[in-house]
Amino acid sequence: VAEEVRGGTSSLETSEAQEAFRLHWLGRKQGRLKLISEAWLKSAPAEARKPLGIRFNQLKQEIEAALQAPVAAAGAAVVRGIDITLPGTVRQPGIAHPLLETMQEIVRVFHHLGYSTNLGPQVETDFYNFEALNFPQNHPARDTQDTLQIADQGAKPSRDRLLMRTHTSPVQIRTMVAQAPPIRIVIPGKVHRNDAADATHSPIFHQVEGLCVDTNITFSDLKGTLDHAMKALFGSGVKTRFFPSFFPFTEPSADVQISCIFCGGKGCRKCKHSGWIELLGCGMVDPAVFASVTEERRKLGLDDDAYNPDRITGFAFGMGVERIAMIQHGISDIGQFYSGDMRFLEQFA
Ligand code: PHE
Repeated sequence: VAEEVRGGTSSLETSEAQEAFRLHWLGRKQGRLKLISEAWLKSAPAEARKPLGIRFNQLKQEIEAALQAPVAAAGAAVVRGIDITLPGTVRQPGIAHPLLETMQEIVRVFHHLGYSTNLGPQVETDFYNFEALNFPQNHPARDTQDTLQIADQGAKPSRDRLLMRTHTSPVQIRTMVAQAPPIRIVIPGKVHRNDAADATHSPIFHQVEGLCVDTNITFSDLKGTLDHAMKALFGSGVKTRFFPSFFPFTEPSADVQISCIFCGGKGCRKCKHSGWIELLGCGMVDPAVFASVTEERRKLGLDDDAYNPDRITGFAFGMGVERIAMIQHGISDIGQFYSGDMRFLEQFA
């Protein structure tokens, strides 16, 4: 009988089930307990009456307790086998990877200036990655790009040979071939270089490229835009300065430095005691690039004057996302971004 009681108490999920259980055992006329007491207790021999009575009372208490318990539990349904009064298992919600977070932050700064986003393929042709960007075949400037070539491309004309894009700049060309000025785009994405991994290098990393092409775009537009972007990313107190540099696809070209955000420009280990941190490359779009774009557009039957360098100028810039994220968060080893180590990632939750 005790087993029967226990079997019954395990399925008291609803108030209907409870009431049926109560009637079954405690019903005044036909309840099992009443029948048991009449059939066994009353007719038991004198010496068995006491232990039987104790057992009988225990059963009655168990039944009454079972009828109380679910109501006391939470005043709600009790799901079989689950104690809903216990605290739940806390699951950490997922977070965006810190690199993605920084990349989106950079992109957002330019969206606020009216730029839109363009993407391109990571497996690129020699033409878009180099030729159209004014890196001629066998030109030493190609050596700066440590290119990962795709195998077995020798039979193709050189412009069609496939490689892993070494920068996001090929998407400048893809964009201009497809659309006429005005252009204001940012290009976030993955790039690949044949670099050995160390604390500051990774064979795969991320860049955000920018391109602005229109009438009357000048170097001061470039300076103003990047100065604003750096202040938006690193704080309004940050200063920028521009140094002459070289890229085949921009002329003039510049490297941009920001005042060290660790020491405020006084000089510390992070900025090698110079007070400045080098962050990105930029420049005015080289007329040779407009010429490649125009040639491609003509092949597509777009025989327009859209990129006539007498009327149209532009600027471009490119920055490394890892480098910026490392400065933002004070990270000294680039490898941490790709380690998948939860102790690292949890810090960004
Ligand atoms: N593509 C260049 C690089 O990866 C960066 C750059 C972009 C420089 C745009 C100037 C203008 O080295």
